[in-house]
Amino acid sequence: MINVDELRLNELEEAAEFLKFTWVDTYSHFLSQATIQKMTDFWLNTELLKKQVLDPDILFLSAKDDSHKIVGMLTVIKLDKETALLARMFVHPEKQRRGIGMRLLNEAIERLRGYKKMRAEVEEKNTRGMNFCLKQGFKEIETKRELVEQALMYITVLEKTLGSQPR
Ligand SMILES: CC(C)(COP(=O)(O)OP(=O)(O)OC[C@H]1O[C@@H](n2cnc3c(N)ncnc32)[C@H](O)[C@@H]1OP(=O)(O)O)[C@@H](O)C(=O)NCCC(=O)NCCS
Repeated sequence: MINVDELRLNELEEAAEFLKFTWVDTYSHFLSQATIQKMTDFWLNTELLKKQVLDPDILFLSAKDDSHKIVGMLTVIKLDKETALLARMFVHPEKQRRGIGMRLLNEAIERLRGYKKMRAEVEEKNTRGMNFCLKQGFKEIETKRELVEQALMYITVLEKTLGSQPR
């Protein structure tokens, strides 16, 4: 059984390890090892993750299996009162295509009651991420290029309309 809940402060080390592992799995076929190293050092240190867990405008969910091991993770940033950004979402490669990603996304949407839109930014070579988002009802709204740690990223910006229940 999979349990989805907010990440706790005593899980930061495990979360950072999980995210580094899944980052490499996702991006190593189109980003250099040096770029991945710089990005993961910058984005996935426990101090930054702690700030995100404590930030009321950030929703940080983890999915755990029966042995309480993290198998999936999602971060959503509330950009304003209507729009949230799916900033990070990873499922362990050995546990993909079992509905865990969908579970995490639906839990996040449930907790974003009143929000009208969710945005996602996916590198165009990340076919798993792109296919997942399109399947979940995200629609492409624009493409952009970004230079991140000297790597040129081709980003597709997608948006999904959320339910309009009052908050
Ligand atoms: C994207 C990701 C989080 C999806 O997690 P998941 O648990 O495998 O997704 P689900 O099992 O809930 O998939 C739901 C549906 O999305 C689609 N989908 C998911 N992964 C897919 C893939 N690799 N190829 C094609 N379609 C895919 C399918 O339609 C799937 O339903 P189905 O299995 O019944 O056909 C996972 O592939 C991952 O961690 N990828 C690397 C990180 C990443 O790309 N993050 C960015 C997401 S914005």
